[in-house]
Amino acid sequence: METAKLELNGETYELPITVGSEGEIGIDIRALRGQTGAITLDSGYGNTGSCTSSITFINGEKGILRYRGYSIEDLAATSSFPEVSYLLIYGRLPTQVELDEFNHKLTYHSLIHEDIKHFFEGYPQKAPPMSVLSTIVASLTAYYPVPDDLAGQEKNIIRLMSKLKTIAAFAYKKSIGQPFMYPRNDLGFAGDFLHMMNAVPTEAYEVPPLFEKTLDLLLILHADHEQNCSTSTVRMVGSSNANLFASISAGIHALSGPLHGGANVAVIDMLERIRADGGNLQKYIGMAKDKNSGFRLMGFGHRVYKNFDPRANVIKTVSDRVLNEMGIDDPLLDIAKELERIALEDDYFVERKLFPNVDFYSGILYRAMGIPTDMFTVMFAIGRLPGWIAQWLEMRNDPKKRIYRPRQIYVGEGLRALPPIEER
Ligand code: ACO
Repeated sequence: METAKLELNGETYELPITVGSEGEIGIDIRALRGQTGAITLDSGYGNTGSCTSSITFINGEKGILRYRGYSIEDLAATSSFPEVSYLLIYGRLPTQVELDEFNHKLTYHSLIHEDIKHFFEGYPQKAPPMSVLSTIVASLTAYYPVPDDLAGQEKNIIRLMSKLKTIAAFAYKKSIGQPFMYPRNDLGFAGDFLHMMNAVPTEAYEVPPLFEKTLDLLLILHADHEQNCSTSTVRMVGSSNANLFASISAGIHALSGPLHGGANVAVIDMLERIRADGGNLQKYIGMAKDKNSGFRLMGFGHRVYKNFDPRANVIKTVSDRVLNEMGIDDPLLDIAKELERIALEDDYFVERKLFPNVDFYSGILYRAMGIPTDMFTVMFAIGRLPGWIAQWLEMRNDPKKRIYRPRQIYVGEGLRALPPIEER
């Protein structure tokens, strides 16, 4: 198969085909408008490949997710989040020496400029943490020089990777009125974040190793997911040669939407609603099956994964053990487990291949670790950062890169005379 044929107004056009390394087929329409005068129309981009990429492979039918060719299951079982971040950003697994050096850099760049702390004072206490995160990331441009050449970006990549968790934890501390806890250089990535979130100056705090390991796993599972809404945003903003901080700030905004990164919050809201309503699970299963109710089981189903979500499978295999070890006694967890059991035995969900997605379990684990619900999407952003950076770099390093500039089919008024104001 070398070309696709398109018939339009009695003419036949040959369109080249690009085949990906996993056999995915793309009809190359780059010359379409020049040849035919027509464009393609694909609102929501469900059938549009915006780029070729060698970072992440997903096969939704088979439940496959791989970063740089390595399966998410293998990475989750043996890697750490910094190692996965290195893999995504630099395109290969680090040696031990490279990983040690990377961890060292992530540690020693985690302080934010003291002046940036004043930003937090200006926000109201209840400011949404995603909004604080994205605006402070955008402001980093004012503090750290943005070099013209891509090679000079290395330092800003490290800065962003190591400072995002500090900014996130400071935003949380501000929201609960507690003093900021500075990063600690003797802790690993996930451990340091948990320390900045949970420690207070008046008491000794030891990061529970199980929490640290669980958070590291959750970050790995969120590290990249190819051309989703926020990643496409990062690429689109960066395609104008906007700098890394500006591009990632835009991606954080995109992630904040409830249709994207906010679903893990919706799961907990739903479980709380069921609990407040007396815990009648059959009522809510019935509502989810009733198209007129406007209610869906949040954390069930997925646009891409139609058999299972491999990330959810990984979490599920560890979550029972982790929750037992944590000794968690949370009524919402019981409701979640029972809801899952009933739904997975119900024909409606079985026939439609609706199963728990990553958000169903991640919210439960974040909650078990004491991370408040309004920080869940922030956790997603910290996990997704290496993916955004890798995608931004791939786009910027592409010698054929062009500014992202989709077209449209105009359906508004034709040319008309401008009436004087008294005749309108
Ligand atoms: N509860 C009840 N019914 C559902 C659910 C659900 N969660 N999800 C889908 N269905 C039903 C639909 O009503 C439809 O039924 P029908 O065929 O009888 O009309 C069928 O299953 C197919 O649903 P679609 O909406 O066509 O599936 P789509 O792929 O467009 O939607 C989505 C996927 C948005 C994730 C959907 O399953 C949903 O809304 N889930 C709840 C929200 C959620 O958990 N989102 C997080 C996704 S994971 C992530 O973003 C990281």
